[in-house]
Amino acid sequence: MEVLKIPTHVAIIMDGNGRWAKAKGLPRKMGHVQGGKNVEDMLYVCDEIGIKYFTVYAFSTENWKRSEDEVSALMTLLRSYLSSGFKKAAKNNVRIRIIGDRTRLADDIQKLIEDLEEDSKDNTGLQFQIAINYGARDEIRRMMQKTASEIADGSLKAEDITESYISDHLDTAGIPDPDLLIRTSNELRISNFLLWQCAYSEFYFCDCNWPDFNKDELMKAIVEYNKRDRRFGNAK
Ligand code: FPP
Repeated sequence: MEVLKIPTHVAIIMDGNGRWAKAKGLPRKMGHVQGGKNVEDMLYVCDEIGIKYFTVYAFSTENWKRSEDEVSALMTLLRSYLSSGFKKAAKNNVRIRIIGDRTRLADDIQKLIEDLEEDSKDNTGLQFQIAINYGARDEIRRMMQKTASEIADGSLKAEDITESYISDHLDTAGIPDPDLLIRTSNELRISNFLLWQCAYSEFYFCDCNWPDFNKDELMKAIVEYNKRDRRFGNAK
């Protein structure tokens, strides 16, 4: 039997926390609690399988429109993982980076992010990216604003804006583009996630809700990925 090729970078749109909770007669918040737990479990699965980069969409720029109660529950969860669960991962050689506009986050969350990124910056194991207050259009807008002011002050020339310049100035600078983008819970949209970076990624959609996504589900996605004829992106 042929050996499976493991994608270097797997990105996940974690959907279906609410539906998972509803099916169990639990409040929506419990779906997020279980979803958070699953993020932590999947870190160890990715590491075990040999995935090098793992990126999750935890909170989008659109998610602020959810009820105050739900936004606050999600922020509490993030706070708790940034101060304990992910700290533990950092001690296990996982490097953690946050993508998205952190300036809108509470001061204490920004501090937790800074500390976690600093403490894990030399870690050589799994490279884990968490998208918080992230939207790809917003990421491109922020990059364009910075670029425009550099052009205005003469430190950058228009002809210097190449594709690699753009890649190197997005939040994901230095991180290879995703080989495989997974979305759970049977929604077939990209929802403003990594639009530039997913230009050549393989997409995989599955029925299961994020809290139920596990190693078996990930292996199914990887088997499917192996059936695709990859001629672009990070493909060799
Ligand atoms: C989508 O489910 C999921 C989210 C909006 C948030 C994802 C957050 C987590 C998994 C928990 C916290 C994250 C970390 C990194 C600790 P949904 O609520 O849209 O589900 P539904 O479509 O079934 O209602």
